[in-house]
Amino acid sequence: MAEAQAQQRGGYTDEDSASAGSGVRFEVDGEIATIALDRPEKRNAQTFATWSELARIGENLPEQVRVVVVKGEGPSFSAGIDLRMFTAEGVPGQGSFSSAAKSDDAGFEQRIRQAQAGFLWLRRPEIVSIAAVQGHAIGAGFQLALACDLRIVAEDVSFCMKEPALGLVPDLTGTKPLVELVGLAKAIDICLTARTVHADEAMRIGLAERVVAGGDLEQAVQEKVAQLLSTHRDAAAATKRLLQGAGGRTLEEQSLAEGREQAARIKALFG
Ligand code: ACO
Repeated sequence: MAEAQAQQRGGYTDEDSASAGSGVRFEVDGEIATIALDRPEKRNAQTFATWSELARIGENLPEQVRVVVVKGEGPSFSAGIDLRMFTAEGVPGQGSFSSAAKSDDAGFEQRIRQAQAGFLWLRRPEIVSIAAVQGHAIGAGFQLALACDLRIVAEDVSFCMKEPALGLVPDLTGTKPLVELVGLAKAIDICLTARTVHADEAMRIGLAERVVAGGDLEQAVQEKVAQLLSTHRDAAAATKRLLQGAGGRTLEEQSLAEGREQAARIKALFG
C-alpha cells in the first residue's frame, strides 16, 4: 500500500518529500502536481535546501503530470531568501554569504546554477505551471512566481524585487520573464526601486492573470487547472513550444515551425 502511494506520488515517500528541512511539500493527484512551500511560521523563506528540493521534484516529475501548482502556506507566498544567509552563522548545513564570499567564483556560480535548476523546469512545454500567490512575494518569492507560466493572485498580494536594495541582483531566473511580461522600462522601475507592486497594478501590467479575494484563491486555481486539462495533452505541449519560441523567430520562421508541429499532430491523430 505504502509502495503504491509512493508510486502515485512519483516515487516519493513522505520522508523524502520533507527531506533535509527544505520546507517543501509535494503531492501528485493524477495529472495535477502541487508544490507547497510549507514553512508559514517563517513566511516560507527559502534556502538552498528549498531549491535543491524543487530541482529534485522537477527531475522526478511523473510523466502523467500536466499542471503544476506552486503555492505557499500561511499568510505569505514567500518572503524570499532566508535572511540567516546574511548572518555570519548562516543556515545550518548550508553556509552563509560570508562563507560563499571566501569560496572561488566558479564554485559559487555553480551553486547558483544548481539553485536555478529548481526554477527553470517549471517552464517545460509538457506542463503548465501556475503560481497561486497571496500576501508577500519578495525576492526569491517573486522570482518563484515569475518562474511559473501563470500567476493567479489574491487581492492582498505584494510583489517586491528586493535584491537590489540588499546589494544583490535577482539571480533565480526572474529577470527574463519579468522583462517579457512587463517590458524593460517597467522591469527597471520595479527592480531598481525595489518598490512593492500590489494586485491592481500586477493585473494592469500583465504580472497576474487574475486577481481574486483571498478566500477564493484555491477555487480560482482549480478552475484554471480544469480549463487547462480540457485541451489535448500533446497539442497543448506543441502549442506551448510554439508560443515559447515565437519571440526568438521571425514571422517566416515561426510559420515554418507551426507547419512542422501541425504535420506531426496530423500524423499522430490520423496517421
Ligand atoms: N528569512 C527568514 N525568516 C523570515 C523571513 C526571511 N526572509 N521573512 C520572515 N521571516 C520570519 C521572521 O523573522 C519571523 O520569525 P519569528 O516569528 O521567529 O520572529 C516570522 O518569519 C514572521 O515574520 P514577521 O516579520 O513577523 O511577519 P510579517 O507578516 O509581519 O511580515 C514580511 C512579513 C513583510 C515578509 C517580513 O517578515 C519581511 O520583511 N521579511 C524579510 C523579507 C526579505 O527581505 N527577504 C529577502 C528578499 S531578497 C531575496 O530573496 C534574494
